[in-house]
Amino acid sequence: MKLSRILSNQNGVSRQQAIRTIAAGQVCVDGEVCTDAAREVSRFESVVVGDQVIQHAVAAYYLMLNKPAGYLSATKDNTHPTVMELVPGELRPHLHIAGRLDRASTGLLIMTNDGNWSRRLTEPAVKIPKVYRVKTLQPISKETEQRFAEGIWFAWEGLTTSPAAIEQLAPCEARVTIFEGRYHQVKRMFHAVGNRVTSLHRECIGGITLPAQLPQGACQRLTPAQVASVPLRD
Ligand code: URA
Repeated sequence: MKLSRILSNQNGVSRQQAIRTIAAGQVCVDGEVCTDAAREVSRFESVVVGDQVIQHAVAAYYLMLNKPAGYLSATKDNTHPTVMELVPGELRPHLHIAGRLDRASTGLLIMTNDGNWSRRLTEPAVKIPKVYRVKTLQPISKETEQRFAEGIWFAWEGLTTSPAAIEQLAPCEARVTIFEGRYHQVKRMFHAVGNRVTSLHRECIGGITLPAQLPQGACQRLTPAQVASVPLRD
């Protein structure tokens, strides 16, 4: 919400009064004087006028989990355990998943209560690279590399996937980088070239890499640098 609107939402404060107060340098956003009435302020920032707190900052949470196989990327399920059971109980009601993994898939899963941030992380248009270590039933051919680089036609969505890169590690194993994150994307891409994924592990999303020492089922907070690595605007 715009800073001027936050001020004028108070009883008896007009938009013009709010703009004058801001221009006079009497308003701090997150501890810094802000004279821009049009500044977008999130619920994770405080707003103070003089010594009066107009908005308290809500705590923002950014977590990574090393997802084990068998857990659903969901907040609740009657049949299977969910990834939410692996995060500290007091955070559970606040978090949502930023980019799901299939039940059998493992690796980096990110959870947050910051919707703007997670939208940027997962929006196909933002083109943040997602890196997966993949094992397949059949050997991965040069033709597959070529087809992935050209993009694979997804008839269901009526689109061609963005060019994806393959780094071959063994005949039936590769590191695959995609730039979207569509439903079952990696499995469907291999299926389109007549192959089948037998194991899928997400290693990294943009500037956020799953640390080798984080045990399966464990989670940790993202660092401020990892949070900041997601571009908030183009
Ligand atoms: N692509 C898939 O097919 N499955 C996942 O879990 C993630 C990406």
